[in-house]
Amino acid sequence: MALEKDGRDGFTSRFGIICAAAGSAIGLGNIWRFPYVVGESGGGAFLLVYLGFILLLGIPVMLSEFVIGRRGQRNALGSFKRLAPGKPWYLVGVMGIVAAFMILAFYSTIAGWTLEYVVKSLTNSFADKDASEINRLFVSFHTQAFWPLFWQIIFMGMTAWIILSGVQKGIERYAKILMPFLILLLIIMAIRSVTLPGAGQGLSFLFRPDFSALNSRVMLAALGQAFFSLSIGMGALITYGSYIQKQNNLGNISVEVSLADTLIALLAGVAIFPAVFAFGLDPADGPGLIFTVLPNIFQQMPGGYFFAIIFFVLLSIAALTSSISILEVVVAYLTEELNMTRRKATIMASIAATFVGVFCTLSFGALGNISIGGLSIFGLLDFTASNLLLPLGGLLIVVFVGWYMKRSDVKDEISNSGSLKARFFDALMFILKFVAPVAIAIVLFDSLGII
Ligand code: PHE
Repeated sequence: MALEKDGRDGFTSRFGIICAAAGSAIGLGNIWRFPYVVGESGGGAFLLVYLGFILLLGIPVMLSEFVIGRRGQRNALGSFKRLAPGKPWYLVGVMGIVAAFMILAFYSTIAGWTLEYVVKSLTNSFADKDASEINRLFVSFHTQAFWPLFWQIIFMGMTAWIILSGVQKGIERYAKILMPFLILLLIIMAIRSVTLPGAGQGLSFLFRPDFSALNSRVMLAALGQAFFSLSIGMGALITYGSYIQKQNNLGNISVEVSLADTLIALLAGVAIFPAVFAFGLDPADGPGLIFTVLPNIFQQMPGGYFFAIIFFVLLSIAALTSSISILEVVVAYLTEELNMTRRKATIMASIAATFVGVFCTLSFGALGNISIGGLSIFGLLDFTASNLLLPLGGLLIVVFVGWYMKRSDVKDEISNSGSLKARFFDALMFILKFVAPVAIAIVLFDSLGII
């Protein structure tokens, strides 16, 4: 990050911001969460709805966040305060900070599992194991207390360390090499997966829509997954938007990041579902899905030992570039609004998130019998943050840009003060004013039984 004239950090290049935003978007959401939510939601029909939401709602919300952040030149909460002084809009930022804590808590649980799987791959733990033994390995790991907590704390420590030492620049540079590498690896895994005997069933599960599987719960799951995967609805991209330079094209960045994110999720789906069916596993297995499926694929690959290591390392890094964007929401708020030092803010925020995270991690084992409205602690935090707070945040964000901000100000941001043509501007405003708010509200309130 380079210092701009007004003393704020900023991304130094168009490439840097693309890497940072894509780094935020691409993470466990694509490779861990997407497959298990597709699996629980019946497959193909969910996928279609999901893709529709990305295009119609995801890209416009992402662009809106960038507009708010770059115009406001502050953290998620401060940007609203600046653009709407004396109005309650800053509460959207407050909601985002709450969502950030919740997501960090359960994200670090799963990222911790990923770190354990780096070690399991290194020590060749999957060798000669069949699907049921690989499943047992996962169960005995994630239901215990010590190692899952150990890895969770390590992961939060790494996240805090990156935020503190400001090595985002390094991450930008790594992302440039590692993300294409991750795509390549996923392609290889997908090829191995679709050539397994019995793979066809998995492909039709993923790509042949069964519309009878659609109901309001599934619609909400698709909305939540779209928002989670794109990192939108809680101000992560408002915060990053505030670091984007004036000459960068916000519309292009939104489209490119969303496409890359969707491509990776689709590749993960193609790698996982054929294998699920080929190995006789259950697509609705829940949050453990990739950990019980992927090791089987590596077992069936020449050089699988190395592929497994590289894959879990890349996934851990992808998780890190996402978790730093979540922690940055809280840290930017604490430093800019409460005048805390960056050090103090980072340490406090990560300790608080880890504290909540411990309960998430233990909810797969020692605290497994706690059920709130039929959900575990992990399930409750994930559902509340991803399916309720992010869509609600997104709804308010599009209403803010569509209805509250001056049209000319929005145009000024999107066209870089007139230097870009932004021919899509009228269509965009129509989506922001009418289509997106109505669509989000219908899905959200319908599933909550409010309409
Ligand atoms: N989009 C990230 C992922 O897919 C998670 C995330 C959610 C990041 C919300 C920031 C904000 O892993």
